Amino acid sequence: MDIRQMKIKAAEAALSHVEDGMRLGIGTGSTAEEFVRLLAERVAGGLKVEGVPTSERTARLCVELGVPLKSLDELPELDLTIDGADEVDGRLRLIKGGGGALLREKIVAAASQRMIVIADESKVVDMLGSFPLPIEINPYGQVSTRLAVEKVAATLGLSGELRLRSSGDGVFTTDGGHHILDASFGRIPDAEALAEALNSIPGVVEHGLFINLATLAIIAGPAGARVLEAKT
Ligand code: A5P
Repeated sequence: MDIRQMKIKAAEAALSHVEDGMRLGIGTGSTAEEFVRLLAERVAGGLKVEGVPTSERTARLCVELGVPLKSLDELPELDLTIDGADEVDGRLRLIKGGGGALLREKIVAAASQRMIVIADESKVVDMLGSFPLPIEINPYGQVSTRLAVEKVAATLGLSGELRLRSSGDGVFTTDGGHHILDASFGRIPDAEALAEALNSIPGVVEHGLFINLATLAIIAGPAGARVLEAKT
């Protein structure tokens, strides 16, 4: 089974949690896109759901495939969000934002009663941090913001390259008009402390540490999909 097939397996298993009439948050990324394709088939077969997309990219795919969409303002409380992740640990803490949609992904997940993460085995880690942490920043004052990020990271014993994400010839811009610093801190022993410290910096719009948001993870490997529930 190749990686794409694993993503499809995870997406299929997540689809069994979707019920008629649900208000659904719909994630961003290649795994979430497999979910959208399967969801669209069910919608074509008569399933009634309303989706809130977490990015313009996901919105375009949903429109193309006929998945009915609403804005989050129209549906401010959601039943379930299904989304991918860049890393998942044993407590269902996540790193997200590799696809640049972390702000809307976090707002949508927080507005949902439940969040199911769908991923292949390569995303499961003992400790978060191998994947560079995306930090969404306001373009205004970004040099000061970068310095502030370095300082709060240092207080937690973290250091490493902060790379401004680029796209083609220019700087990558999120759906919200912001930029992203990809922080190569390495292993993050205290994700809660880092999340809190980053939230205290005015120029940081949001960061890719998702804590206490995922309620279940469906992880697909060569032998099929397994469920990961948060260890307490
Ligand atoms: C998008 O901003 C990300 O949070 C994605 O959910 C995450 O990067 C997973 O993407 P893939 O499913 O493409 O690995």
